[in-house]
Amino acid sequence: MKTLYLPALGAETPALAAELINNGELVAIPTETVYGLGADGLNPDAVAKIFIAKGRPQDNPLILHIADAKDMEKFCHSIPAVAYTLAEKFWPGPLTMVLPAKDCVPKCTTAGLPTVAVRCPDCEVTREIIRRSGVPIAAPSANISGKPSTTTAQHVLHDHDGKIAAIVDDGPCRVGVESTIIDLSDDRPRLLRPGGITEHQLVEVVGDLIIDKAITESVANDAVVKAPGMKYRHYAPACEVIVVTGSKEAAAKYIEKHYKPSNRVLCFEEELDIFAPFNPLAYGKEKDVDSLMAGLFAALRELDDPAIGTVFARRPNGSGKALAVQNRLLKAAGFRTVDPAPRGMVIGITGGTGCGKTTALRTIETDFNGIIMDCDRIYYELLMQDASLLDAIENRFPGCVEDKKLNRKKLAGIVFSDPAALKDLNAITHGAVKKEVQRRLNHASGGVPIAIDAIELFDGGLGALCDVTVAITAPEEDRIARLMTRDGITQEEATARIRAQKPESYFKEKCDYVLENTGTQVDFQVKCLAFFQNLSIIKED
Ligand code: TXA
Ligand code: MG
Repeated sequence: MKTLYLPALGAETPALAAELINNGELVAIPTETVYGLGADGLNPDAVAKIFIAKGRPQDNPLILHIADAKDMEKFCHSIPAVAYTLAEKFWPGPLTMVLPAKDCVPKCTTAGLPTVAVRCPDCEVTREIIRRSGVPIAAPSANISGKPSTTTAQHVLHDHDGKIAAIVDDGPCRVGVESTIIDLSDDRPRLLRPGGITEHQLVEVVGDLIIDKAITESVANDAVVKAPGMKYRHYAPACEVIVVTGSKEAAAKYIEKHYKPSNRVLCFEEELDIFAPFNPLAYGKEKDVDSLMAGLFAALRELDDPAIGTVFARRPNGSGKALAVQNRLLKAAGFRTVDPAPRGMVIGITGGTGCGKTTALRTIETDFNGIIMDCDRIYYELLMQDASLLDAIENRFPGCVEDKKLNRKKLAGIVFSDPAALKDLNAITHGAVKKEVQRRLNHASGGVPIAIDAIELFDGGLGALCDVTVAITAPEEDRIARLMTRDGITQEEATARIRAQKPESYFKEKCDYVLENTGTQVDFQVKCLAFFQNLSIIKED
């Protein structure tokens, strides 16, 4: 088949392209994000051709492109009011909304899901083709599945010349990464893919927004995910890609150590000097995230060369548009990330109430510039933000979650008198806290010490994450006195509270070190300082 080349400005282009679409053919279309491989989204035979041309897994649904916001009503039902507000604000533009699908949308377009993704692209010629054809155009990014997306007509021809009916050339794509996807089909709006419309812009309209885990974390191939496309390795050149974070100096040191002549570095323009010995390619300016988005896929395509061994890639820090670039690079790297600055020592601090844990933690924080992970606080944060924790609690203890809030009293009533129930609850909460601590540790860098503050350091399985564990102990009469002043309780209450906890001997036996808080507060501060200095908790690079 000869692929017809249609310039966007050609007078005949919209009519010719629309006719091919109506004939069930594939036409590559420009959009402001990336080029799409378009077909009549209501024609199952035409849609099937997209999957064949791309080599796309059948379970990965397509986006329907529409020319006008009001057309979403033709293909979606139960549309919430925010969808209209979002359309008003961001369409035409790089935003895709997932909504409940009407029956007229074929199963092959939605990959059998009850929802459909819709978007109105900010590209005049493409909207004109849609209008003229009278059908929504289903279009994934036009790359061969798994490869970097297509941001120029040349990229599309490289992948599909001779295999599709036509390509409409409107020059390089302005945005350069695919649209932001928001799922509005569930109780709470969920960001499925970051893009040119940022999470901050969305929150302004929708108020509440869950950031899907698949954006920042690797997902197993058999996992059930909200956006099926998020689980596949994607955007990947033929070679291995490793994201190297941290300062450019630390990254350069790391790359120098591991560099082979077949390797390349993908970096910011500002870094070309420091990476000059390692065959660098810049994809944009660090200070200008728009340029990074626009240049990323062309650069990844240039690096799609089997002669290259490894690409060490630099990514921008931060949220918003930087998140979109991070996400594409992480996926290109199969989530392989190296932090060249070693993480500081992880110190577990535990002990009974009133022993003086806070003094020890404060020393790590103020005298060693450390990071404190307060596990009680993490648990409360998870209760506020992590629906899966509440779901797990509600599953085991039906009726204890109302209105997405934990009914603590009710739950306490159940577990107070039932040791088996308490065990189950602990397994749920400990598991969630441990996972979150692990996640934060994975992201920590910079050599500063990290203190994990948890009474249940060992029962919660956190001890295993620590390089060292330290028990803080104090004479019982001192603890009683401290609790009475701190919490305004009687001697009997303070004694009862202390006796309800594990005995001192437990902490002494479990921990690597014991710090006894026997003198005054100042004495203990001095003791902590000396102790942590001796431990050398700051790591040298
Ligand atoms: O910017 C873009 O969105 C480009 C241009 C061409 O419009 N299109 C694009 O399509 O990136 P594609 O197929 O490469 O990515 C669409 C993503 C996939 O990850 C897919 O799983 C997800 O959208 N998706 C589509 N329909 C969905 C649905 N009903 N529910 C959840 N995710 C959906
Ligand atoms: Mg794609």
